[in-house]
Amino acid sequence: MSRLIIVSNRLPALGKGVAAGGLAVALEAALKDRGGLWLGWSGRTPDDPQPGVTLQKLGNVTYAAMDLSAEDVAGYYEGISNSVLWPLCHYRSDLLKYTRADMDRYLSVNAKFASALTEMLEPDDVVWVHDYHLIPLAEALRKRGAENRIGYFHHIPWPAQDLFRAMPKSAKLLRSMLAYDVVGLQTAADARNLRASLDAARPDLEAITHPRGTRIGAYPISIDTKGFAHRARRAQELPRIRELHQRFGPRDMVIGVDRLDYSKGLPERLRAIETLLENHPSMHNRVSFLQITPASRSGIEGYDRIQQEVAERAGRLNASYGTLDWVPVRYINRAFSQSLLAGLYRLSKVGLVTPLRDGMNLVAKEYVAAQDPEDPGVLVLSQFAGAAAELDRALIVNPHDVEDVANALARALDMPLDERRERHARMMARLEAHPVSVWSETFLRDLTGDPP
Ligand code: G6P
Repeated sequence: MSRLIIVSNRLPALGKGVAAGGLAVALEAALKDRGGLWLGWSGRTPDDPQPGVTLQKLGNVTYAAMDLSAEDVAGYYEGISNSVLWPLCHYRSDLLKYTRADMDRYLSVNAKFASALTEMLEPDDVVWVHDYHLIPLAEALRKRGAENRIGYFHHIPWPAQDLFRAMPKSAKLLRSMLAYDVVGLQTAADARNLRASLDAARPDLEAITHPRGTRIGAYPISIDTKGFAHRARRAQELPRIRELHQRFGPRDMVIGVDRLDYSKGLPERLRAIETLLENHPSMHNRVSFLQITPASRSGIEGYDRIQQEVAERAGRLNASYGTLDWVPVRYINRAFSQSLLAGLYRLSKVGLVTPLRDGMNLVAKEYVAAQDPEDPGVLVLSQFAGAAAELDRALIVNPHDVEDVANALARALDMPLDERRERHARMMARLEAHPVSVWSETFLRDLTGDPP
């Protein structure tokens, strides 16, 4: 079996015990069997960046960390990746901040990744590139002579083609997609949008292609369903979870877990909670909302503002509705371990996942997997999360319609046991049939052309 090389902007937090993002959790599972190499940014910006990469071997996987300069990070990560591609793919062209200098950096950092990888690449290696930071990587590798099979997975949504064209040089970026063998997206709708973007750009396309052609398809990412369910069962024994169970015992807990990002619909969610409390006085003193929101990407347009807005809203809501012995919303800006999260999901009567746009949203899947099948909680899920295409037995809501979300919350909190069991069983069956291992095997099979 050929060696697998994964390239992503971030390397996983090796052994730090913090909650890994969905991307890291999924890919660790993909590398487990094959062994290979994972190349990413070291997270450092030293004054004197090392020219090469720093290698660390753990079991059968080598992690290769590459330093970047502060200017690299400003143009490539904060600039094009998170001030152009991220807002655009999440339908926020109002937040787009493009400069030609940033685009030059984005391309030169991709060229840096390509040079580092070329040094280590063997002819049989299969390369799997992840996310929008590295779209031009295959083109840069092909320019350096690589004939390997190279795949790309886009973890975030792909927007409508007309919107994508708002990005200057969008045709150039689209052209670079054709240097891949396989381009994977989260949903069929995303794949359609990308095909439409490519079709619209065709007159401008003078691509560096390869003889095998480019296959574009939907590969919905998932979780290690059995592993997560097991973790949630085990977490019930954690002293911290037992203590919280005692404390929350008589109240119904509703949980939200999201990176602090304007795409997650947090102000709208707090308005929905406020509407619920306004319209349903019986919920006062009965429901506690736990919103776990690690801060992220501070300093980038849109993030500092959302940080302030959410904190203010949560504060106002508690001031209006809180009593001496009831705080309606606990809003926490830090990350927790996967085990603690699994335990918290299991304790919660409702999982509230209401992004305005989301590629997939693995929290929705983790929440379902963590439930006790005998007495499961209810998932309230935005129609704009990729996960809604699969988890159709959740209560699907439009996050912009705060009344709709408030009503779904009330319905979830009072849902009879039979209905909760039926909904949970159907979603769990789907998650068990399509765990993350199936996702990576399917993608890799299409990429390598190997038989199943
Ligand atoms: C999303 C992206 C990932 C990214 C993660 C955390 O899930 O799809 O590529 O790593 O957010 O964002 P950050 O900017 O901190 O890497």
